[in-house]
Parts: sequence; structure tokens; C-alpha cells
Amino acid sequence: MEVVIAPATRLAELAADAVDALVRARPDAVLGLATGSSPLKVYDELARRHEQEGLSFAQARAFMLDEYVGLPAEHPERYRNVIETEIASRVDFAPGAVQGPDGNAEDLPAACAAYEAAISDAGGVDLQILGIGTDGHIAFNEPGSSLASRTRIKTLTAQTREDNARFFGDDVDRVPRHCLTQGLATIMSARHLVLLATGKGKAEAVHQLVEGPISALWPATIMQMHPHATVLVDDAAASRLQLADYYRQTYASKPGWQGL
Ligand code: F6R
Repeated sequence: MEVVIAPATRLAELAADAVDALVRARPDAVLGLATGSSPLKVYDELARRHEQEGLSFAQARAFMLDEYVGLPAEHPERYRNVIETEIASRVDFAPGAVQGPDGNAEDLPAACAAYEAAISDAGGVDLQILGIGTDGHIAFNEPGSSLASRTRIKTLTAQTREDNARFFGDDVDRVPRHCLTQGLATIMSARHLVLLATGKGKAEAVHQLVEGPISALWPATIMQMHPHATVLVDDAAASRLQLADYYRQTYASKPGWQGL
């Protein structure tokens, strides 16, 4: 696991560099897209490169991590709509190239199985962008999630619903209680994981993710088992890392050509 500590704008550039290098080398790459605040600067940077530097997603495909259950199709906080606004509509993905789990399906377990099959039929995810919840979730794998889980329905914790109330007019009662989410094993199948975290509120979750014991109590800790996981954090999110100085020294002496 590589830990990079840098200001938020630099972190977004680094994540965008990784996506950029992948898509230019393999135009039909499969990307994994997270929702929430953490990747927004990355999406801004990718949109800028699309507009100004010819970065094209015309042959690429993308899979979202998760979706709320039961939000009306036109609801602005439905993750399918958020992804459309934040990235898909700002670049040149082909129609239908960005997929998400169907949180309005009549048969939710069947929708989850279909989503797993779609990811697998696409050859799996090459690069997965991730954020982390203050309770240590990735996607919506809340504490207690099976480390071997696949896409399924989950109940959001009170903490996550409070954290996300800011997207619902600060009214926690408007935050859905259930979601469909890629499982931890689904995420672990992606070939490169790139997680972004900023702000003091993420410091404990980041400490557990990087340095804690692997446990369903902090689901993101499963990333310690991934052969190619990159954790991009600002000073505040890094403030509880025991080995922060070592991570800084390691990154400072890394050759520039190596990328993430
Ligand atoms: C969203 C997702 C979640 C978020 C996490 C952090 O698709 O998968 O795991 O990444 O809740 O959210 P933010 O980035 O808003 O702090």
C-alpha cells in the first residue's frame, strides 16, 4: 500500500494522472467511479483535461460503486444522477458506458447479481477511485460487512446517514436507509485502488485503513491485502498516521517516472 500525503489539489492531480495514463495507454479501460465529495476535484481535473488536453473516454467504460435504494429516478442525489453531473456529462463516455446498480429494481438481489455479471463481462475494473466514510466504509460496506462480500443490499449506519445529510438539506430523515453497494471482494477485484481522503474527520478512518488490524469493524482495512492500493491524503486526514514521516520520506524519494 502506498500512502501519499499532499495538499488536496495535488492529490486530485495525482489521481487524474493515473486515470489519464491508463486511458491513453488503454482507451477501452474500465474505470470505477465513487460518488461523494472526495473525488470531486479529480473529476474536475479529468473534465479539464478532456476539454483542454484531448483526454478521451469515448471507448472507456465505468462502473459506479453504489446507489441509494428507492430515490426517485429524477432525484438529484440519486448517485446515477450525481455521477452524470459530476463527470459523465462533462467528458465523452459513449451512451450506456457508465453503469450503476439499480436501486429502484423490483428484484434488488437480482439487480445486484446482474451488476456483478456486468462488471465481470467487462473484464473487471482497471482503476477504482474510492473515498472513505468516517466509520471506515468503502463504497457502502459499513462496519460488520463481510470481507468477502459481493454487490448486495446494505443498511446505512446512523453515522453515514448523518454524514450524508448535508446532501439532503441537512435533514437526516431524507437520507435513504438502504443502498446497493459493490462488496469488499468486488472492490478488491479491481486492478488498482486509488482512495482519496481529506480533512480531520477522516483521520481515524485513514489510520485504521493503513495501520489498523484487518477487521470487518473497519471495512477499508481489507485494502491492506490489495497488491496495488494507493492512499492519497492531505495533512489533516494523515494526522493520526503513526508512520506519517516514513510515508513522506518514501514518496519524496520515489522516482518521478514511476507514477502511482
Ligand atoms: C460513494 C461511496 C462512499 C464515499 C464515502 C465518503 O460512492 O462509495 O464510500 O466515498 O462515504 O464520502 P465523502 O467523499 O462525501 O466524504
